[in-house]
Amino acid sequence: MNSWRTCLLLAALAACSTLSAATRLRLNELAAASAVIAGTQSTENDRPLIGILSQPGSPAPKGSSYIAASYVKFVESAGARVVPIKYDAPREEIEARVGKVNGLLLPGGSAPITPGHLFYDTVSFLVNLTIAANDAGEYFPLHGTCLGLEALAIVIASGSRVLEHYNSDDFPSALLLTPDAKGSRFFDGMPPGVVASLQASPIAMENHQQGLSAAAVDKHPKLKDFFKVTSLATDRDGGVYVSSMEARDYPITATQWHPEKNAFEFAAHLHIPHSPAAVEVTHAVAMFFVGEARKNGRAPANQAELDDLMIYNWPPTFTGRHRAVPSTPQGLRSSSPLGTAVDNWAVRFTCAPPPNFVDPQGHVWTAQAPSIIVTGGFAASPPGTVIANASGLEAVFLSECSGTLVLSLPAPVDAHYTVTLYAAETHWAYAGQRVFDVLFNGNVVLRHIDLIALVGANAAWQTTIVGVPVIGGRLNITFNDKVDHAKLGGVVMQLSSA
Ligand SMILES: *[C@@H]1O[C@H](CO)[C@@H](O)[C@H](O)[C@H]1NC(C)=O
Ligand SMILES: *[C@@H]1O[C@H](CO)[C@@H](O)[C@H](O)[C@H]1NC(C)=O
Ligand SMILES: *[C@@H]1O[C@H](CO)[C@@H](O)[C@H](O)[C@H]1NC(C)=O
Repeated sequence: MNSWRTCLLLAALAACSTLSAATRLRLNELAAASAVIAGTQSTENDRPLIGILSQPGSPAPKGSSYIAASYVKFVESAGARVVPIKYDAPREEIEARVGKVNGLLLPGGSAPITPGHLFYDTVSFLVNLTIAANDAGEYFPLHGTCLGLEALAIVIASGSRVLEHYNSDDFPSALLLTPDAKGSRFFDGMPPGVVASLQASPIAMENHQQGLSAAAVDKHPKLKDFFKVTSLATDRDGGVYVSSMEARDYPITATQWHPEKNAFEFAAHLHIPHSPAAVEVTHAVAMFFVGEARKNGRAPANQAELDDLMIYNWPPTFTGRHRAVPSTPQGLRSSSPLGTAVDNWAVRFTCAPPPNFVDPQGHVWTAQAPSIIVTGGFAASPPGTVIANASGLEAVFLSECSGTLVLSLPAPVDAHYTVTLYAAETHWAYAGQRVFDVLFNGNVVLRHIDLIALVGANAAWQTTIVGVPVIGGRLNITFNDKVDHAKLGGVVMQLSSA
């Protein structure tokens, strides 16, 4: 049963990323009724379990999914434990797991939230289960963060395109509470001092490229009927988006911001607020959400079943290690035996899956050879994408290594090499949506690579760096991700001619 692999991400991700309320429910009465169902002396469930939805994409290896550790700690900090809900599990398994937990959390990330994708369909299924449980008289909460808010909006709008582009990557913001925040379960459920600091200073961690405008909610009858917007925030360009919202008649809440990051994520490239006031926000939101789950009485049948369900069955993986950049460049000492010639030696590597690719000049591009160590994700570009100026190397430009990426290439002798990198932006349309530095054996060789700014979308970018000293058998190419993850299609490494 527990055969799927998941990883816990201990660092921030770079990206974030259908029903009508026919039955009007009186939530407080339902909460009381559920507590009675729990059948304990206490009116609350003091051993709440939260189901957290896993998602595909970096840093999970292909075919796997992950749950960022910050969400687990977030929930645990308020006295709940976590049951992972694998996004690609069979529906019966998902439903069975949901039947044992007291609330659901849809985390942030960058999984696809377009109808027809399995991830989106699973979100839709979870929302349907949540609504059905509450319609049947139970109190069953759900909270969505960032991508979770975006997915909720699309699901409730029956799959309509309701999101817009916002410039809010790594942009902590203050919340502007709307008149509807009066009587909000979410804001009333937190200490007034925390709500005041959320409004007074930019301590809500915003890290998203899409968002929901208040106008979009107003315009879409299903959204407007289902949700009330309780806070707004502004992006770098003054664009205003919905930063918090909650269902009018269901215990469903959502934040575009990340309450879990303030206390539990420390990615060096992000400006996550960590002040005492910011850390209090993490705890206040966790206490609110777990408090909602305490009103639900679901439970596993016995201790053995609980043990099988819990996230502790999957060991955490540290995926957020930062690579050190030496202060003095390494290599090229006069005593080093640089310059030994091996005529015409070259390695051509493409991120495409096997078989190898033969270019129009007859050169063989290796796809994933044992001598080339690649750590990080692989993905193919969308079929049908046309790359401008690819000069016969379409297969290279359309392939993609991305994620927390290390490319380790063999160097047969200590020498100077000429290295050419190949990439094309096939996902993003605007400058600033993906920015990265390139490092060779720990030294920055290219800064602020923004493929759209350099050549535009779906166009070939290549650059050659000459005189790269390599000692000790390997050239390791790594990246500092500034916005989103670095992306490469291929690399050629040749001995520099003397
Ligand atoms: C959720 O319910 C809506 C409305 O009934 C339906 O259109 C949608 O297909 C359901 N989603 C799933 C995944 O079953
Ligand atoms: C293709 O390359 C030519 C010559 O370098 C350049 O002028 C042109 O803008 C490029 N086209 C695209 C779509 O990048
Ligand atoms: C390059 O990466 C390989 C494989 O991960 C590692 O064994 C080696 O020490 C690295 N070399 C340098 C110079 O960083």
